Amino acid sequence: MQIGILGSGLMGGKLGTIFARAGHDVVFSYARSEQKLKKLGSHGTPREAARDAEVVLLAVHWSRVAEVLKQAGDLAGKVIVSCSLPMNADDTALVIAHTSSGAEALAKQVPKARVVSAFNTVPSEVLFGVFAGRRRAKRPSLVYCGDEASSKETAAKLIHDVGFEPVDAGPLRIARYTEPFALLVAQLAYEGDEGPELSYRFSRGA
Ligand SMILES: NC(=O)c1ccc[n+]([C@@H]2O[C@H](COP(=O)([O-])OP(=O)(O)OC[C@H]3O[C@@H](n4cnc5c(N)ncnc54)[C@H](OP(=O)(O)O)[C@@H]3O)[C@@H](O)[C@H]2O)c1
Repeated sequence: MQIGILGSGLMGGKLGTIFARAGHDVVFSYARSEQKLKKLGSHGTPREAARDAEVVLLAVHWSRVAEVLKQAGDLAGKVIVSCSLPMNADDTALVIAHTSSGAEALAKQVPKARVVSAFNTVPSEVLFGVFAGRRRAKRPSLVYCGDEASSKETAAKLIHDVGFEPVDAGPLRIARYTEPFALLVAQLAYEGDEGPELSYRFSRGA
């Protein structure tokens, strides 16, 4: 797959690197340091990263979403996989929740794109470890949601490529539940004393 990364920080830099290691064509964009983008690999402006991409990974702080979308240009028909959480400036609270979600607000901003919310419920620190363990029988879970079947299939493939078991949580409005859940995972990862390399796994039955 051709994948454009919008936001090449902790999440975008790591996920893009893993996507490339899994065999995808990745173009990184949107970091303040050109040096950082160079180190990651193929890179360009957000518009260049998005131009030939079937999938765009949105991985910027909530306050930068409108700006990076503007720089990316026309995203009609593309799958946008968003790991961005609708956080306030100091990352202490969701600014959208309960009656809507960051993912739904994003979908309203880009009505012709196909938004899937994914990768927002795990800390970046666990990503390389999950990828390294992808041949293990029991994979960690990763919830995702979206309104359109084929874009969800694409996202599920990427989730699987990273080493997770994709868990389809339903339509995009379920991001109202997955986004606060992401804060729970962050609480356990960053406020616990066992380090941030945390993932989760759902199991059914006893
Ligand atoms: N980190 C996590 O574990 C985690 C987990 C779940 C969800 N999320 C969500 O994922 C999203 C990305 O988080 P992150 O931790 O990856 O953030 P991050 O490390 O700060 O990465 C954001 C990227 O945006 C770039 N950027 C910011 N302002 C810019 C500007 N004015 N011009 C150009 N580039 C700019 C940064 O550039 P520089 O690289 O030069 O700083 C960086 O590459 C957020 O919405 C967050 O809530 C994060």
